[in-house]
Amino acid sequence: MNIYDMQQMILRMKKEQDVCILAHSYVAREIAEIADFVGDSYGLSVQAAHAPQQTILMCGVRFMAETAKMLSPEKKVLLSSPIAGCPMAEQMDKQMILQVKEMYPDYTVMAYINTTAELKTIADVCVTSSSAVKIARAVENDKILFIPDCNLGAYVAKQVPEKTFKLLQGGCPVHAAVRPEAVKEAKARHPEALVLVHPECVPAVTEQADYVGSTTGIMDYARKSGAKEFIIGTEISIAEHLQYDCPDKMFYPLSKELLCPNMKSTTLVDVYRVLCGDYGEEICMDARTIAEARRCIDKMIALGG
Ligand code: 13P
Ligand code: SF4
Repeated sequence: MNIYDMQQMILRMKKEQDVCILAHSYVAREIAEIADFVGDSYGLSVQAAHAPQQTILMCGVRFMAETAKMLSPEKKVLLSSPIAGCPMAEQMDKQMILQVKEMYPDYTVMAYINTTAELKTIADVCVTSSSAVKIARAVENDKILFIPDCNLGAYVAKQVPEKTFKLLQGGCPVHAAVRPEAVKEAKARHPEALVLVHPECVPAVTEQADYVGSTTGIMDYARKSGAKEFIIGTEISIAEHLQYDCPDKMFYPLSKELLCPNMKSTTLVDVYRVLCGDYGEEICMDARTIAEARRCIDKMIALGG
């Protein structure tokens, strides 16, 4: 079967089976084309809460499927690739954060959505890369313990100088590996290009950028901008999607190593096989974990994302 025929088959099957396919923007183009919604982590949570279909098929990583399950516990939620985890989400466990909380009892625990459901049960509020600054300003407390990404945390702390932040040493192995020199080298090669980067990059990278934002933020900025060339400092598929969307502009990846193997572990064949019922994983969580972990996500959505 060629890719086009497989896509047509998937479109037919998802309709027959009442399945909503949600895909993070880091997935490959052929998957984005058959999804009901493609977007960043915040957009995926909102769609998961509102999708009318009875089954959600998440093409992304595990914490995204877990979030969808928490927001729609009555629905069947499937993760397209059972091996797609997010290493950052697994870096800190509940016991460790409970100990840190004891050291900072008067701090609000702000958890990046890239965390396990277990960790979310002890967080006060959840944030995504697109909502972190707004939510840090909006929470009542002026003391924030930000977990687990110290780079996103440092970026938020810089935007919200009126509050005190405690950061831990977690982060995304893909984004944090981008060297600050890579920005200088890319600018030297493309002097007219604007630099757009994800806040999971280290401060020495984000400080050199023209725009810092989530994957959707970067894509919206590039589409609307009058500029013609862009250096894209996030997972390599964003530069590829933008090149399709804006053929009159040029997009250069900041680093060819910006490739998330977990996000790329979902293939179109996986999606097809999940709909055939012989691949994927159904996300199952007990009612108590859902209730406890969901509080911080509801708070994120209430604060406007
Ligand atoms: P977004 O919030 O931009 O979707 O980022 C999620 C992510 O995992 C980035 O690495
Ligand atoms: Fe996790 Fe980084 Fe991959 Fe995003 S890019 S899913 S943070 S490992």
